Formats: sequence, C-alpha cells, structure tokens
Amino acid sequence: MSHQERLQKVMAHAGVASRRHSEKIIQEGRVKVNGQVVTELGTRVGPNDLVEVDDVPIYREEPRYIMLYKPRNTISAVSDDRGRDTVVECVKGIEERIYPVGRLDFDTTGLLLLTNDGNFSHVLMHPRYQVPKVYIASIDGIPTQGELTRLSRGVQLEEGKTSPAQARILSTNRQKNSSVVQLTIHEGWNHQVKRMFEAIGYKVSRLKRERLGFLDLGRLNPGQWRELTAFEVDKLLAQATSGKD
Ligand code: URA
Repeated sequence: MSHQERLQKVMAHAGVASRRHSEKIIQEGRVKVNGQVVTELGTRVGPNDLVEVDDVPIYREEPRYIMLYKPRNTISAVSDDRGRDTVVECVKGIEERIYPVGRLDFDTTGLLLLTNDGNFSHVLMHPRYQVPKVYIASIDGIPTQGELTRLSRGVQLEEGKTSPAQARILSTNRQKNSSVVQLTIHEGWNHQVKRMFEAIGYKVSRLKRERLGFLDLGRLNPGQWRELTAFEVDKLLAQATSGKD
C-alpha cells in the first residue's frame, strides 16, 4: 500500500482549512499538485508531491514512524492534564507532531509505535486489519491447561468474544504461586489482556508487549526508541491488510 492520501485531507492536516472547506478551495481551482491545477476531489497525493494553495506551497510534515520501548508509568497520549510523563516525551528530537498508534496502559511496558501518518495509524488500528500482538503477562496464580484453552478459544468481554488467541505458559513459580504467560491476541481493546485473564479468574501483575506483527523490540531497552525502516513500514501495512502473520 502506498502512503497516498486524499488532497483535501492533506490540506486539512497541513492546517489550510477544514476538510470540507478544503474541498471548496480545490473546486475553486486554487490548488496545484506538481504545478498543475487540480479540481478533482478524489485526487490522491503522496509525500513527494508538491501541493500549492494560491501558489503557496503548503507545509507538509515528513512522515515519521517510531518504535518505542515504552517504560512503565508513562501515558500513551500526546499530553496529560495530570502532569504524568507521556510516551511522546520519551521520543526526543523529533520535530513532527507524532502520536501513539493505539495505547498501552500506564503500567504496561513494551513495543509502541508512534507516527504522524494518519493513514498508517488508521490501517494498524482498524478492527478489520489487526495484526497479531504478543504480550508477556506475569500472573498471580498458575492457570490450568483448561483455563488457557478457554483463553485461546476466546472469552466473552464487553465488546464481544475475543478472537482465537494463543496462550502458553513460559514459566511457573509454585512457591510464589505465580506464572508468566505469553498471550497472542488480534484485537486492541482497552485493557484487553488484563480483562481476558480476569475472565478466567486471574490477575495480571505485570504486562509487556513483546511483538507487534513481525516487529519485535530487538536491542531496545525501556525508554529507548528507533525509527522504522521504509521496508518495515511497508511490510507492516502489507501484513495488516493481508491479515496474515
Ligand atoms: N492489554 C492490557 O490489558 N493492557 C495493555 O496495556 C495492553 C493490552
């Protein structure tokens, strides 16, 4: 999938006018793409196309794609009215207005993507396109095989039944009566992993997202980040839209 977006959306994003008003501006013949007047509303433009409104080039941000190893006690938001550290503040030195793709809980650590590309974010978050997400959950208690099977077949939550998941025990500690379970899910519902364990009678004490689609944290430590390569971005979009692992 290419990173093309509708002209009126690009204009709105650049702050020219609302999407509706941008459509009017296009129809009035005031917009040029690569030097040619465009009046067609469906026109799509990519990051390298030059868009001018009244002969003034519009400011377009470079698309950015960041993988952050989200540390504990950070909020997956651009700002927080309670003054808590945000994931955006973890990513220093990026000028563009990036925001998290989805959310990890305040106390959850692990792989979180940030971007300023609305299309990328939309595709990854869309219920139809969800890529598998692998979580490592520390559990109070040791689930039985039968309970894990319930998790894998799907449990009923407020939003509906979770789709088939994979659950396996990585380690157990009988003295402390605790275990570590790897759970792979496809949706991205709020607190989903915690609620799935709750549904089979267990509490999650720690949670980390280890993988998102084919991406893993690699050598990153908590609080560290890196930019995705163009190849990774394309592969992630392809994986999301094909629905394959
Ligand atoms: N599921 C949760 O319960 N919390 C997260 O942060 C992510 C998935």
